[in-house]
Amino acid sequence: MTSDTGDTLQVRPSAAGLGCHVMAAKADLLGGHHATQIRRLLVAHGVLCFPAVALDDDEQLIFARTLGEVASDWDVSSDRTVNRNERLAEYQKSSVNWHFDGFGVDVPEFATIMSPRILANGSAGATEFANCYAAYQALCAADKEAFDSLRIRHSFETTMRLVKPQPSEAELEEWRKGGPPHTQPLVWHHDSGQNSLLLGASAFRVEGMDLEEGRALIARLNAWITQPRFVYRYEWEIGDLVIWDNTGVLHRAVPYAPDSKRLMHRTTILGHEAPG
Ligand SMILES: [Fe+2]
Repeated sequence: MTSDTGDTLQVRPSAAGLGCHVMAAKADLLGGHHATQIRRLLVAHGVLCFPAVALDDDEQLIFARTLGEVASDWDVSSDRTVNRNERLAEYQKSSVNWHFDGFGVDVPEFATIMSPRILANGSAGATEFANCYAAYQALCAADKEAFDSLRIRHSFETTMRLVKPQPSEAELEEWRKGGPPHTQPLVWHHDSGQNSLLLGASAFRVEGMDLEEGRALIARLNAWITQPRFVYRYEWEIGDLVIWDNTGVLHRAVPYAPDSKRLMHRTTILGHEAPG
């Protein structure tokens, strides 16, 4: 990581309590001059939006490395004429459902950095974020107690069935091999002392609970987390860059035509804390 001069960034928090516009010069981002403050702002605001910084793919990677260790760095598109990797293009269709990245690993990514290369039309293809800290906070005391030790099974198959309810045997096998079920706690007790709900479209079962009863609870809580009062929507312009705290927000793309050529560049930062 590069050194941080400690200079203060100009920030404009959104009214929703999630999301913050940050004014920064490209050279300062690439030099890591605000890295410490950016990590702190990220945890405080969940989503940081840097308008018109115009980082290209290489620069986005340089910037990402000022914030931590890079876990992945690639293009994201569900349009097969743009994304030559047909399998990844197909998987990308599931990003219109609420999720967090890394449900299948013990330590999910800390943050995701994204910038658009080709936009979809209008507000289709905007990205929405749901504040999982606020959603937890707003639960009644009885729910907080009842949910505290629940454990949730997640799988890639659950995510993909939402976009392709009747897969072929070969697809099913591929999904199961690529993302076998993994258990995560429902409530993430962060090292910071804050708690957040950890759910999303990959959740399919509550351990120790009847399957249907568990499904109903998952549906109820996913609806709870993503109600408008907890949601922040970002409408993209070319040149923008957004970072979100993957450990405290769910995200999704507002549905767009799969053949719209929408193309994003996405870089993730390694996590350092297992949910628990
Ligand atoms: Fe994602």
